[in-house]
Amino acid sequence: MTKDQIKNQIESLSREIEEHNFHYYAESNPTISDYDFDKLLEELIKLEKENPEFLFPDSPSQRVGGTVTKEFVTVKHRHPFLSLGNTYSEEELGDFDERVRKGLGVEEVEYACELKYDGLAIGLKYEAGKLIQAVTRGDGMQGDEVTNNAKTIGSIPLRLKKGNWPEDFEIRGEVILPRSVFNKINKEKEDIGEAPFANPRNAASGTMKMQDSAVVSSRKLDAFMYMLLGENIFFKTHFESIEAARHWGFKIPEYTKKIIGIDGVKKYIEKWNKERDQLDFDIDGVVIKVNSYDQQKTLGYTAKSPRWAIAYKFKAERVATKLLDITYQVGRTGAITPVANLEPVQLAGTVVKNASLHNADIIEKLDVRIGDFVYVEKGGEIIPKIVGVDLEKRSSHSLAVEYITHCPECKTKLERGEDEAKHYCPNEYGCPPQIKGKIEHFVSRRAMNIDSLGGETIAQLFDAKLIHNIADLYTLHSKKAELLSLERMAEKSVNNLIEGIEQSKIVPFERVLFAIGIRHVGETTAKKIANHFRSLDALIHAAREQLLEVPEVGEILADSVVAYFKDEKNVELINKLKKAGLCFELSKEQLANRSEKLKDLSFVISGVFSISRDEIKAMIEQNGGKNTSAVSAKTSYLVAGDNMGPEKRKKAEKLGVKIIGEEELLKLIS
Ligand code: IVH
Repeated sequence: MTKDQIKNQIESLSREIEEHNFHYYAESNPTISDYDFDKLLEELIKLEKENPEFLFPDSPSQRVGGTVTKEFVTVKHRHPFLSLGNTYSEEELGDFDERVRKGLGVEEVEYACELKYDGLAIGLKYEAGKLIQAVTRGDGMQGDEVTNNAKTIGSIPLRLKKGNWPEDFEIRGEVILPRSVFNKINKEKEDIGEAPFANPRNAASGTMKMQDSAVVSSRKLDAFMYMLLGENIFFKTHFESIEAARHWGFKIPEYTKKIIGIDGVKKYIEKWNKERDQLDFDIDGVVIKVNSYDQQKTLGYTAKSPRWAIAYKFKAERVATKLLDITYQVGRTGAITPVANLEPVQLAGTVVKNASLHNADIIEKLDVRIGDFVYVEKGGEIIPKIVGVDLEKRSSHSLAVEYITHCPECKTKLERGEDEAKHYCPNEYGCPPQIKGKIEHFVSRRAMNIDSLGGETIAQLFDAKLIHNIADLYTLHSKKAELLSLERMAEKSVNNLIEGIEQSKIVPFERVLFAIGIRHVGETTAKKIANHFRSLDALIHAAREQLLEVPEVGEILADSVVAYFKDEKNVELINKLKKAGLCFELSKEQLANRSEKLKDLSFVISGVFSISRDEIKAMIEQNGGKNTSAVSAKTSYLVAGDNMGPEKRKKAEKLGVKIIGEEELLKLIS
């Protein structure tokens, strides 16, 4: 193929992939199987790798992420990012309609009613049909540039479809995290002993501010657009403009409606207040906009918000009920969560019996007492919460809650770290819920994947004293008679169980490392640590500094790993697992791609490459080299990509450090 043909091929593949992306993400209507899609993307990435001069910033290959932003640059908004006037009452909504009608001198107004998506506001700038910048709302005047992270969101077009889009415009909208994805992420966070996100909004905004775009990519954010801005917008109405934007490739939810007159608006609000629970994303109200652009112009703006729009916010539903008792739950990590046991009460379509009280400080702040009538709310959060106490109904005999001092499960004295909100039970190896939780994590799908063993069976085996820790699972094959004597354990289920456990012995090292449940070690970090150290023997003896050399391992994680292996009990457990035959080193195939060609050499990489920086780093490590972040006299090579920081180059030149490109690096290895 000639260079021109290759360029055309890359071009047409990119277009085809973006078309599929649009159907999948913006329309939720895939037109190709995941497998075929991956094949197309692989082909594109291969071509771009071989012809880096044709890797364009709007290539769909950029959606997988890989760039790392150390510090987000602050960008001034061309048009201020205004907010909306808020109301919670129908009366005020009527006042708004009256003001608008008066201002326009008309009897009735056509409104565009839209859902108020609860996420992170973002502005996307397009030039010549290409995404050139994404900026968060920030304080309204300036925000953070998050373009690389935005590019990983499938529903944000990198290049627009054919259409009559203006040469240069901005579109604004909300980055959200679907509830289904939110639940999955929180489950994973709990699995590795991290505090879950309070709600999808926090998760979306936390994710958009992450430095590693590959992680952002894995989080599956979504983006709904709600406003077109620019000097050359030739549409007459808001509705028309967002309909057009949908054709250009943006995700514009279909719930927006044109409604004439405020009574219809009220009906729209009522409908969504009732049906909001059925959506897969959070909304906190409805936005009502005057549809005609001319009319919007006539009405104008106050200093902070447009006079032509208002947000009607849903009240968090609130009920009063009696607090019967407070019980305490112990999590897998030993964290204690106080739970309010309530007199059952109907709230937002469900019967509520429990509410989380989070920690001792919250109980103290609310001054809730057993027997109190408390107000329970279901707002953006999934779990209902107690927001206050009806003091008038408090009995004169009531006493302040005395927080427990000992574990409700194993009676060990609780501990609370200086900066910690929660109390912890330190009896990691003797406290039943902690033991059972660890085993549940160990067998889970992304860990050892022993699907013949669920939570109930684990509890049953633990209660029957057949297992006390994860290593005991590998002794069960010799306890068949005891297993058969248990309830619901017929010959077939026992055989399945033992077979499932046996099968897990082929699970590769990185997943075993994730499964053993070192605090803060998630799936991705486990993989990075496994690749870096290659075997558990090397890892056990690793010092904090060595751990910090692994990409993405920070201080908290390094300390956690060191502490884990310092504990004799853990080492003993690992030895038992080793004896049982689990994989504690990289396999021959995994090692085959390795060499010592870069031994004793240290590298700094900077700029953009044809493959992700993480892949380059991994390649260096696989061949015995070391990655460091700053150029010093000890650096052997500075590997320079596109747009490399000028400071790094200057420093390397000053210190006489060799500067090489990607191709030269590949030559060193091959
Ligand atoms: S229009 C000039 N429409 O609500 C004002 N905003 O206070 C333009 N929001 O954080 C805003 N859904 O990100 C508009 N359908 C929608 C919206 C929406 C959510 C957010 C917006 C901002 C806040 C406005």
